Amino acid sequence: MNSLVTTKEMFERAYREHFAVGAFNFNHMELIQAIVGAAAETRSPVILQASSFTAKYSDLGYFVAIAEYAAEKAKVPVALHLDHGEDLETVKKFISAGFTSVMIDGSHLPYDENIAVTKEVCDYSHERGVVVEGELGTISGIEDSIGSEIGLYTDPEQAADFVARTGVDSLAVAIGTSHGAYKFKPGQDPKLRLDLLDRIESLLPGLPIVLHGASSVDQRDVEIINTYGGKIDSAIGIPPEMLREAAKKAVCKVNVDTDLRLAMTGAVREVLCKEPGVIDTRKYIGAGRERVKERIIDKMEKILLSAGRY
Ligand code: G3H
Ligand code: 13P
Ligand code: ZN
Repeated sequence: MNSLVTTKEMFERAYREHFAVGAFNFNHMELIQAIVGAAAETRSPVILQASSFTAKYSDLGYFVAIAEYAAEKAKVPVALHLDHGEDLETVKKFISAGFTSVMIDGSHLPYDENIAVTKEVCDYSHERGVVVEGELGTISGIEDSIGSEIGLYTDPEQAADFVARTGVDSLAVAIGTSHGAYKFKPGQDPKLRLDLLDRIESLLPGLPIVLHGASSVDQRDVEIINTYGGKIDSAIGIPPEMLREAAKKAVCKVNVDTDLRLAMTGAVREVLCKEPGVIDTRKYIGAGRERVKERIIDKMEKILLSAGRY
């Protein structure tokens, strides 16, 4: 059975038709169900993505089997992608597990080293029919193992050189997004450098651009978490209208993890607080799955503009 696809065709279409494909992080079955369920319901292509930390949480074999089943059932294009791959060893592990797309994140390395590792991964992956996302520039706030706190915009001229020398299929750029729930300080004007995006597109026509750190931090979910015993202060995301503008341009992949974490956590807290006697795990995990699916459907329809494309 091989129902999972690469991102090639979905990106060509997203670029040509001015929409973007949502790439959503998962760490358990219910998130895969919510993500692919939303894609099926809206007739959107979708990317399921997982990091090395996902693979530490659970054996990849479980996830690949679930993703394949979900994709087959959904009858929309579903890609399975390694998010923030650290090195060739990690890439090899995910490809042999059945992933159809990988990211090699060498953005924290000196430029020449980023080129070397990215080219090595491209050569290896392309031989096996797997597509590769590279990254240039620093997207701040990146979690756990990689990255730095300092945001550094992507240099468009350097991006053109990087793509020519590595052969990447898509490129993650730094234009003002950042990882996590605290993207801007209170009072700070959220800003995305769409001018840089235009310049990158003019130098690299046809190349799918990727936006990491693209959660909007829905204030409804922050409020639900805080109402039901959580504590999230001053969390601010990327305004939906800015993401929509980017999706109409060369941005073909929009990465979202934080928004799913907020939605799931809020819904679980809500059930557990409102019904303190509940011990049936399906009641609260199921409510989390439903809330995540609703939020993704919203994004597919109103931000990514991917709904109804398949
Ligand atoms: O940007 C990466 C995602 O938010 C994944 O997070 O490394 O904790 O799995 P993770
Ligand atoms: P957020 O933290 O904004 O959801 O970004 C996720 C991401 O970029 C995954 O690679
Ligand atoms: Zn990321």
